[in-house]
Amino acid sequence: MRVGVLLSGRGSNLQALLDAGAASWKVALAVSNVPGAPGLARAEAAGVPVLTVPHRDFADRASFEDALDAALRAADVGLVVLAGFMRVLGPEFVARWRDRLVNIHPSLLPSFRGLDTHRRALEAGVRWHGCTVHFVRAELDAGPIILQAAVPVRPDDTEETLAARVLAREHRVLPMAVGWIAESRVKVENERVVGVASDRPPVNPSQ
Ligand code: GRF
Repeated sequence: MRVGVLLSGRGSNLQALLDAGAASWKVALAVSNVPGAPGLARAEAAGVPVLTVPHRDFADRASFEDALDAALRAADVGLVVLAGFMRVLGPEFVARWRDRLVNIHPSLLPSFRGLDTHRRALEAGVRWHGCTVHFVRAELDAGPIILQAAVPVRPDDTEETLAARVLAREHRVLPMAVGWIAESRVKVENERVVGVASDRPPVNPSQ
């Protein structure tokens, strides 16, 4: 399966995908809406085609998303991964890629949708935090959950130490979820992700 990655910044999750690779899937295109995003250099270093589609160059969201969609289709992408992509995608784009569009979010959804998840987790005093890979729906940071990993919150954690602990898990669960999709080991039924019959039970990446 050819995977397209949309990003806006650092690209460490893209790097995890580039490093993981597999017989069943590969990153075929990396697209940034931010010119010069460091993630693009990571893709280039791995020999993966890159593209910048600056949202500011477009009159409205629909035309920006049409350009994204066209680029993904031209690259014959079968799955789109949002890996630190800091634009909200509209319902039309989401519908076009339904169940072929996943996001990695740095919290245990449905807790802490949106931004600043680590700071908010610390403020809330939760004992466990983590990350979620989910299929994207029009509602922000919502949709059928494919995989989650939990990490403990330590008494002396700062936003930075907690973020680093979660990020290490993100780098494990994202390639794992992409592999499951590429190998048709999961499907969406009644808005829940279920394992396909005869598959072994999902592993718990927290362990
Ligand atoms: C990650 O924490 C991801 O969960 C969130 O944005 C961050 C992107 O980091 N959606 P990177 O660009 O992959 O390093």
